[in-house]
Parts: sequence; structure tokens; C-alpha cells
Amino acid sequence: MIIDGKGLSNHLDSSMKAEVKALHKVGIEPKLVVIIVGHDPASQIYVRNKHRKAIKLGITSIIERRPEDFTQDELLALIDQYNRDETVHGILVQLPLPKQIDETAIIRAIAIEKDVDGFRPENVGKLFNNSEGYYPVSCTPKGIMTMLAHYQINPKSQHAVIVGDSNIVGRPMGALLLNAGATVTYTHILTKDLPSFTRTADILIVATGVAHLVKGTDIKPGATVIDVGMDRDANGKLVGDVDFDSAKNVAGAITPVPGGVGPMTITSLMQQTLELTKLATR
Ligand code: GUN
Repeated sequence: MIIDGKGLSNHLDSSMKAEVKALHKVGIEPKLVVIIVGHDPASQIYVRNKHRKAIKLGITSIIERRPEDFTQDELLALIDQYNRDETVHGILVQLPLPKQIDETAIIRAIAIEKDVDGFRPENVGKLFNNSEGYYPVSCTPKGIMTMLAHYQINPKSQHAVIVGDSNIVGRPMGALLLNAGATVTYTHILTKDLPSFTRTADILIVATGVAHLVKGTDIKPGATVIDVGMDRDANGKLVGDVDFDSAKNVAGAITPVPGGVGPMTITSLMQQTLELTKLATR
């Protein structure tokens, strides 16, 4: 089975559209600010897609583009401006940032009530503590959980193997799956004999940025395979971290690239923008 993230994302639009409409009716205009510094090509595409989806749903989206040589102080000042703007409900600073800017300092500068990415340490801490109540969570892992739930793939008591240790995907993904009752193994690019781990996964999440790292022979027959990669092969074609052609005949369910995880990341961002809007205007 091919997991259709794009289709699910579009399916979830209608309820979000209705929610935005209801908010507009009571005079509330959900508003998201996306700040992008520099010219990372992948980031340009992500930001464009986020903007398009926001417009489609009726969410007000502001994109702030700044040059590669933008300074940390300038970025802090821009964030501060939107922190104090009461009409703004979510602030996202697209990562990665140019090397002169300290990502940790930037993440911590975003007001906690506008941390739509869930990257602030307080929100990460809540995730790892499996805290009650609402808090934003990194959008890609959240989108993957939505996708698993929709396809009735229950992680409870399953062995989930994460490949990739990033703060944006790997680490929060493991926490969400653990919170859902899975047995979680974290692996990464330094793991010795990686296939010996991936072959034991009932749910395999691959988020390394290495094109075609995982082949069909590295997968347990019937496993659910979630490919977070957005890589370019030697011909410049967009491919995933999983070799789809050899994996699709072994996996029980698998996400394609593109059209799998990517659209669900954006859906999560829109959902969290609406949640933060409601919390701010309660
Ligand atoms: N870069 C890649 N994924 C993300 C994300 O989810 N949020 C931000 N801010 N930057 C990213």
C-alpha cells in the first residue's frame, strides 16, 4: 500500500477551512509569519508551499524574506517586532539559517505562545515528558502521527526504528511514538550495521538526508516505511532516503517522495497555527 500524504493533506483542508471561516465570523483572523533568511533552495520550496496552503485555507500568511548576510541582531529585532504584534499567532523561522546566526538563540527568541514549530525547549520538554494538555510539536513528526492514525497503523507495542537524530524530525518522532506506546530504537548515520536495526522495525522512519540509504533488503516484510528524505539523486531528481522501487514490494505500507510526508508537515503547521490562534483569543 502506498500512503497518500498529499491526498490526506487535501482531505483535511475542508475541516480546517470551516474552522477558519468560523473564526473569521467572530472577528478572529489567524495569522502566520514565516521568516526565511538566505537562499537555501529546499527552504524556498517549503516556504512557498506553506504560503500556498495558508492562502487556500484562508489563513493570513506573511513571508519575510531576508538576504544571506542578514545578521543575528537584525533577525532578533524582526522576531521581536512580531512577538509584540497582537494580530500574529504563529512565528516560524525557516531552518537552516546562515552560519553567522545561532539557531538556538533564534528559537528561544520566539514568544512561547507563538512557537508554532514547537521548537522551544519548554515545548520539547513537554513532548518528552508526555505532558497533558495542548502544546505545539515539530510539524513533520506530528504529520506522520496523523498519517499513521488515518491509515489505522497503531504504534502501540510495535517496534519503531528511527533513522536520524535531528531535532526537527528524528528526536521528536521517537518521543511521539514512545508516547503512543511503541518500543523505540534510535539509530543514525553513525550506527554500526544499520540494516541489522532497520530489519527489526515494524514501523521504520527514515530522516537522514542521504538519498536511497535504505533499500528493500533492509526492510522487514510487511513493515510500515515512512520516508522523510527530500534528496537529489545524481540526475538532480527529487528522491527519498528510501529506495522506493526496491522497498515498495517488501513494505506493507510506504510513503512516496514527493507526495508523502511533505504535505502532511504543512497540514500540521496549519493545524498548529489554528490551535495557537484559538489559545490566544480565548
Ligand atoms: N526546516 C525543515 N523543516 C522545518 C520545520 O518544520 N520548521 C522550520 N522552521 N524549519 C524547517
